[in-house]
Amino acid sequence: MRAAVTTRYGSPDVVEIRQAPKPGPAAGEVLIRVHGTTVGRTDCGMRQPSPSFVRLFAGLLRPRRTILGMDFAGEVEAVGAGVTTFKPGNRVFGLSPVVFGAHAEYLCLPEDAAMAVMPAGVGFSEAVVCEGAWYADTNLEAFHLKPGQSILIYGASGAIGTAAVQLAKAYGIKVTAVVATRHLELVRGLGADHTVDYSAQDFTKIDETFDGVFDAVGKTTFFHCRRLLKPEGVFASTDLGPWCQNPLLAIWSAITGSHRVIFPLPQSSKAKAIVEFLKARMEAGEFRAVIDREYPLEAIADAYRYVETEQKTGIVVINVRPASAAGRDLTGPLA
Ligand SMILES: NC(=O)c1ccc[n+]([C@@H]2O[C@H](COP(=O)([O-])OP(=O)(O)OC[C@H]3O[C@@H](n4cnc5c(N)ncnc54)[C@H](OP(=O)(O)O)[C@@H]3O)[C@@H](O)[C@H]2O)c1
Repeated sequence: MRAAVTTRYGSPDVVEIRQAPKPGPAAGEVLIRVHGTTVGRTDCGMRQPSPSFVRLFAGLLRPRRTILGMDFAGEVEAVGAGVTTFKPGNRVFGLSPVVFGAHAEYLCLPEDAAMAVMPAGVGFSEAVVCEGAWYADTNLEAFHLKPGQSILIYGASGAIGTAAVQLAKAYGIKVTAVVATRHLELVRGLGADHTVDYSAQDFTKIDETFDGVFDAVGKTTFFHCRRLLKPEGVFASTDLGPWCQNPLLAIWSAITGSHRVIFPLPQSSKAKAIVEFLKARMEAGEFRAVIDREYPLEAIADAYRYVETEQKTGIVVINVRPASAAGRDLTGPLA
């Protein structure tokens, strides 16, 4: 099978399209023919050239997982003995947060992995939305906000941000989305009650306070946002911060009992629940993919380069099926 293989750490140039052994489903496993996947910030982090703590589990000297890709959507091609939930021909989507492996034509996962039958009427490209939603939902859940309470989402135009706006609205939370001018219409369309253009004004000076402030893009700090919080308000970020301050502040908050800063980490044990939750939200018309660009698998290195600009809007999709099979001309990015 064709796969994007990364055998060493480095720039996007280290990602090679190669033939790799096609997996076969053992008992209890499902073989998926992958049609769509994404390049996300996690894939970039797993491949990055400069050493980081990520290498403690990604592999000290070279990557342990040579085929990356967490989000997938495709068709079940075969099932192993004893599988009852899925059958060949099912269109499925989901998340592979432990073994990755979706940057390839085939992916084999246990039947009880984080996957579900795709909602009717949703295309493969529109179904590869789970990674951002998983991070977003992990944070939203940790805020413990009730319907009618308020959240400010900073960086609401990225994969996590666009998911957070939609999921917060699904939970009945009042959303103020902070984005650049070019994304104002987008976040209004996703359901944001209020928007703030961070390129036109200092968002920390707005005349309102919130039950939660969520830095969905990891570009601000608790100290910068403190005055936006109500007395019991909570701050969370998706990023460690330049001095690793976000997890440290969260630990300090827990020790002192103030709970002003939290740093929740997504758990693979909860990934299946988020896939099923997303399916329900998509069926209810409350969640949709925000697709920035699509690339064929052969151009995945270009997709990495684009994602690493940190300028993408929503997700960047990789079409794994060859153009002829997919019936589309995918000779370059679809901006
Ligand atoms: N360590 C990991 O494995 C991991 C995994 C997933 C995510 N994360 C972290 O989670 C964060 C978000 O990930 P993501 O995939 O959602 O990000 P993303 O999609 O790459 O975010 C890009 C978006 O953020 C906006 N943006 C860029 N700079 C901004 C700024 N200074 N203020 C506000 N918005 C800004 C960009 O639009 P404009 O530039 O036009 O505003 C763009 O729409 C990142 O910090 C990432 O490191 C980490």
